[in-house]
This record gives sequence, structure tokens and C-alpha cells, in this order.
Amino acid sequence: MYLKQRVVENRLIGHPSQGIYKLVLSGQISKTAQPGQFLHIQVSATQDPLLRRPLSIAGINRVKEEVTIYYKVVGRGTDLLTRFKENDYISVLGPLGTGFTIPQKGELLLIAGGIGVFPLYSLIQAVDREQVKIHLFWGGENIDFLESADLKYILNTGVNLKISTMDGSLGHQGLVTDLLQAGIRDSGFADLNHNHLLAAAACGPKGMLKAAAEICLKNNIPLEVSLEERMACGIGACLGCVCTVKGEDGNLKRKRVCKEGPVLKAEEVVWDAKS
Ligand code: FES
Repeated sequence: MYLKQRVVENRLIGHPSQGIYKLVLSGQISKTAQPGQFLHIQVSATQDPLLRRPLSIAGINRVKEEVTIYYKVVGRGTDLLTRFKENDYISVLGPLGTGFTIPQKGELLLIAGGIGVFPLYSLIQAVDREQVKIHLFWGGENIDFLESADLKYILNTGVNLKISTMDGSLGHQGLVTDLLQAGIRDSGFADLNHNHLLAAAACGPKGMLKAAAEICLKNNIPLEVSLEERMACGIGACLGCVCTVKGEDGNLKRKRVCKEGPVLKAEEVVWDAKS
């Protein structure tokens, strides 16, 4: 459903060099949005450019009827999006896609690469923290990036946070999946898993997702991954976003990332498929 949503705020946060914006929209979408779903947003008030941009939902406030999105300026489309001002209206299609499973008890491992942390914000928000302990493993290029992607917000949530940066400017120097591996090894998560009290969710670059999937599957930890694909229609009609999965019968199938995804079970994704 196409909806006009009012802009509450649309502003650069953090270091200007990182180009990360926070967009808060007021309207009906907040009523049904779920963590892991996305919005297909028309980035300018005209039909140019024609294509919408898929952006993950990072926050849902049903009381204030607002959804929050973070986006990084990476091209003309996202640059145009920065021009919307408070009280402008944006045409939004959504909420779209299939989101994350929300665990009811136990512990939840979150693995994020770069701006892949944004959809996980909405999952952190939705989990009953009295019942579920959250461990977030987050990797970024450097401290400037992490601060610009709202590190302060994450610190305020009180999740158990482990950070890695490529240049060592904050946390462990290296890959976030190194932290995940060490975390699983040192924390007794395997025992929790034995009692079905452990789940994991990940979002980030494909290489990171594949590595996280290998680590989690080796340790029998059920993992959901949020995939990214170019999306034209966003509603399952154009087949431009299909990925290859392995069905329960062992046969390869196609799934539409915009419809059956973007969140899929890691064990079904065929990571090295051509398309
Ligand atoms: Fe058209 Fe997914 S974007 S089917």
C-alpha cells in the first residue's frame, strides 16, 4: 500500500564524512511494521528518479506512530532523500517483506557488519529484555563510522556489546566474525543451545553473513540473516531480487528477497549461487 508519511526529522548524524542520516516518519506504517521489514521509499517529490529505495526499519514506536530509518548517502537517490524537510510528506510503500523471529526467552546473538546494524536496532527494541539477554557483535571500518551509526544509542540499550574495527581505532582489530567465534567459544553458549535457549540474527555484507552462518551452523545455533538485493518493485512482482535457497527436500529453489525475505534462515541460503 502506498502511503504518505510525514517527516518528523531527517538529519545528518555523527561525522559529516560518514554521510549517515536519521529519518523519522510519522503515520500509519508504524501500526503494523515488524523488525526486519523494510520500506520502499520514493526519494524525491517528482517521478525522477522513478525507482524507489528499499530502506530497513530501525525503530518502531506504535504509541507515537513513528518509524525510524537510518541511511547512508551512497548515490543520487539517497542524496535526494536528504532534501526532505520536517513536515514534508514522503510516498512510502510498506511495511514490506518478512522480518525477524522475536525470541521469547533465553539469549540472542546479533551479528552486524557496518550499516547492517540498523535493522537489528528494531529487533533489540522489540525483544522483552527481562526474558532475553542480547549480545551484539558489531564490526565497522573505524570509530568515526561507529559513532556516526549511533553507537551511543546502542550503549544506552544496555546490550552486551563487542566491537571490532578494521583499523583498531575501537575494540578488537579485525573481523567481527572473529569476535563471534571467540564469544561462542568462551561463553558457554553451546550449553544454552542444547536447551533451545539460543538464537542468532545477522545483517551485513554477504561475506560476513556467510562466515557467521558457518560459525553458527557448526555450533548448532539457529541463525536468521537479513539479505540485501537490488529491488525494483519491492512487492514480489518483478523477480529482480531472487536468491537461491535449498529446500527441505534438498532441491534448489528461488526465493524473492523482497517477499519471502529479506530475513531468511541461514541454513537454507546457498551462498555461492550465481544469482
Ligand atoms: Fe521485484 Fe523483489 S523487487 S520481486
